Amino acid sequence: MNKPLWLDNYDLNNFPQLTNDLETDVLVIGGGITGITTAYLLGEEGYRVTLVEAEKLLHGTTGHTTAKVTLQHSLVYKTLIKKHGINKAQAYKDSHIIAFNLIKDNIKNLEINCDYETVTSYVYTESDKYINNIEKEYEASQKLGINSFITENLSLPYKVKCALGFKEQAHFHVVKYLTPLIDDFSKNDDCYIFEKSKVFKVKEDNNMCHTYFTSGVKVKSRHVVVASHYPVNDPHNFYFTKLKPSMTYLISAKYNVEFENADYINVEKPIRSIRTHPYNDERLILIGGENHQCGHTRPDVKHYSNLENFGKKHFAIEEPLYRFSTQDFYTFDNLPYIGKINPKSPQIIVATGYKKWGMLTSHVAAILARDLITNKNTEYEKLYKPTRITDKLSCKFFSYNLKSVGRLVGGRLKKMPKEFDVSCLLKHQMPKEFDVSEGMGKIVSYKGKKYGVYKDENSEVFIVNVVCPHLKCILTFNNEHKTYDCPCHGSRFTYKGKYLDGPAIKNLERINFRDL
Ligand code: FES
Repeated sequence: MNKPLWLDNYDLNNFPQLTNDLETDVLVIGGGITGITTAYLLGEEGYRVTLVEAEKLLHGTTGHTTAKVTLQHSLVYKTLIKKHGINKAQAYKDSHIIAFNLIKDNIKNLEINCDYETVTSYVYTESDKYINNIEKEYEASQKLGINSFITENLSLPYKVKCALGFKEQAHFHVVKYLTPLIDDFSKNDDCYIFEKSKVFKVKEDNNMCHTYFTSGVKVKSRHVVVASHYPVNDPHNFYFTKLKPSMTYLISAKYNVEFENADYINVEKPIRSIRTHPYNDERLILIGGENHQCGHTRPDVKHYSNLENFGKKHFAIEEPLYRFSTQDFYTFDNLPYIGKINPKSPQIIVATGYKKWGMLTSHVAAILARDLITNKNTEYEKLYKPTRITDKLSCKFFSYNLKSVGRLVGGRLKKMPKEFDVSCLLKHQMPKEFDVSEGMGKIVSYKGKKYGVYKDENSEVFIVNVVCPHLKCILTFNNEHKTYDCPCHGSRFTYKGKYLDGPAIKNLERINFRDL
């Protein structure tokens, strides 16, 4: 089924929509792991906190991950030392250890049963080409005092050339972990959660934040934490120029091969991220990978099938019980953006750019947000400052944004289609260009404009304007997700045109074919 493992068979409480103006100390925007943890920590500090979510808590990126709790973020430490120096690499590691300890403390203090398992986390290669990279990463990890080792002997059912293991890492059931935090937070006086409450603007004025919702209500607060995955308050901060969106796909299935219960990820492409998880009296394997930049996949590439074939070949998996996918954002210097959104709006804090390692980095963000709001001294403010800029960063920004401009211009200069036979319209028939099989979608050029068309299982056809509401790139259709994806900065929309993620914020315009 196309549903995430973590959200199946799990009853989450429903929370009301925000229908009245409100005043609070801190407004947290985004009901994922960062928002919930931040709200929980600030509630513990005695702040009046309101947590708002545009849809439903935990149903965004948080509910669609591998839920690995690890300091091993593929090959990151060698790069951090090279780009930022040993002190900053050390600070990155230390801040993630503090985050790890917070997770362990929460589990202990709230007696959370979340299938937490301590495991070794491996990054490995099957190719001679990457052995040196792994050896260098091992040296970097040793310099930083990480409990790591190098080996050629993994119990995976295929031969690896070299692997780096980090001991005493973990994985868990992310929804089971966060639900008690939500419950505990809700018990605080003057702390509230609202769902189906979508923010469209945050302004700071005279040290007060004013947040406006699409429903017309507003919230006044001393601080705002924007934990909405992609920062909701982007128009004046240009995060779209410094965040690169990337999609990942996951399947979960029963399997029939014995191997060490651990976390695995390879270095080479295609990426394969592997772990197992208890499921009734058995275990399921989770296999993730097939990463690609949002809006940059070919219709003939079957990402879920590729994962399934890999699983069948090596782990004798059965038909997958779950298929799900998610998008995350990369920064250009391997460090997330966590902190004051800009120097003129210090009361607004943003957290984004976790590059798919959000279980721990979310907690780094929550701790830093709490410390900034409570005026605690924090050595990590400078490290993760969202407005930082370096030479290397500038070059990468330039190249990425140049490509985005190319997509924008290229999408608009494509050859105009031939005039359409108007007789179809007179007969109120769907133009033949819009023919598509059930369960499929595509982009259509028609009378000089681009449209997206999708036909559902009941043969109902949905047509949308595929000009991205953000900066007007032409969207692509992703038949695996049934979404329209923006190749420029990663905005995503359902086939009905509903906004899902990214800087666009608005829905796509729905088109009636009679109005074409
Ligand atoms: Fe920027 Fe679509 S997200 S143009």
